[in-house]
Amino acid sequence: MVAEAPPPRGGRRPEARAPLRLVEVVTEEAARITTGVPELDRVLGGGLVPASLVLVGGEPGVGKSTLLLMALTAMSDTRRCLLITGEESAPQVKLRAERLGGAGNVEILAETELETVCETLERDRPAVCVIDSVQTIWSPEVGSAPGSVSQVREAAARLLRVAKEAGVATFLVGHVTKDGSVAGPRVLEHLVDCVLQFEGDRYHAHRVLRAVKNRFGSTNELGVFEMTGTGLVGVPDPSELFGRTHPGEVGAAVTCTLEGTRPLLLEIQALVAPSDLAMPRRVGTGVDPKRLAMIVAVLSRHAALPLGTADVFVNVAGGVRIDEPGADLGIALAIASAAKGVPVHDGVAAFGEIGLTGRLRSAAQAERRVGECRKLGLRTVLAPNGTKGAAVEVETLRHALVAGLGERTNSSL
Ligand SMILES: Nc1ncnc2c1ncn2[C@@H]1O[C@H](COP(=O)(O)OP(=O)(O)OP(=O)(O)O)[C@@H](O)[C@H]1O
Ligand SMILES: [Mg+2]
Repeated sequence: MVAEAPPPRGGRRPEARAPLRLVEVVTEEAARITTGVPELDRVLGGGLVPASLVLVGGEPGVGKSTLLLMALTAMSDTRRCLLITGEESAPQVKLRAERLGGAGNVEILAETELETVCETLERDRPAVCVIDSVQTIWSPEVGSAPGSVSQVREAAARLLRVAKEAGVATFLVGHVTKDGSVAGPRVLEHLVDCVLQFEGDRYHAHRVLRAVKNRFGSTNELGVFEMTGTGLVGVPDPSELFGRTHPGEVGAAVTCTLEGTRPLLLEIQALVAPSDLAMPRRVGTGVDPKRLAMIVAVLSRHAALPLGTADVFVNVAGGVRIDEPGADLGIALAIASAAKGVPVHDGVAAFGEIGLTGRLRSAAQAERRVGECRKLGLRTVLAPNGTKGAAVEVETLRHALVAGLGERTNSSL
């Protein structure tokens, strides 16, 4: 016997609807909104898409409110912009705006109740709205405390609907704690159109903005800022800043990674220290731990570096995180320099993927990387065989180390 269908809720049976053919769907060519902060535009994929929902995550104090207030101020010249603040009072925001050089025509509402926020957005229909922060918005209909996962999820789902229906491009600010995801924005990542991560050490001036998810553009773009007393200043040429080593310094090498469309020179620093531990440490900041372990293993096996009894520490300049294998050779060169106690030759940059056999594989868009190295005055670019324009084509890791460090191969360990 077939079970009877449950009675429809509300007494009404849902009716089937006729789907459209995709070619019949009418699209509006959404002109992107220029945010007035070029680095933010770049990370968004060329500007803010109208009616999209963007989550901006970052640790406390990294500068989320500052960044978004700067963008709102710039956009408020040409369109209606609303800041909903649940965290700071309106006078506090005004003080910040004054420090950043004026508030333009930004409108502000200090409010935390979800229904009120949604009603206001539907009535006023600003072009852009910033909600600072999503964790402070709560609905009495949801039985849990403000900031809990169910409150945050409900707030984001409702705001998503309002953003799409009322055509409001909405930024949600979300806090991320060091250990990850306490009621944090991670639960929202699948809901929103873009997830931007604002990173950087609060105690250092440089901040990196990157897209973790983007329905309208690449997720590899990277924006670099410097935090100053008058706000965040974009760094249009981060290679100049991060890609410098001190001549003659042991354990430092320059590599060239590709972040989206942007080649970026980075200084890699390494320290190799004798260890008494049965399992010596391999600690990387800005480097994937598995990748680091592999590079150390290939160096031991194919370049005869005695790293088995040494701790290896690697650090990438400027708080940047490397997620692509093209930087392998630069990392290996820095470690080898530290292990041998020999500085990398002056004016050398290295990139290329290291294979498990010790042979190098060419990196994506090698010509652009070579171009960036040349632009910054690095004369000797070590790159895998077949890379056009590279001054020194190297076949294996061992060749690269000889070319980058010279023949003095006795270990200092
Ligand atoms: N007067 C000032 N001069 C220079 N820098 C300042 C000044 N005031 C604040 N800052 C910088 O701004 C940062 C705080 O920025 P902001 O409030 O935008 O961060 P946030 O990510 O919104 O933080 P929160 O999580 O607390 O909301 C501080 O860490 C500091 O570096
Ligand atoms: Mg803030």
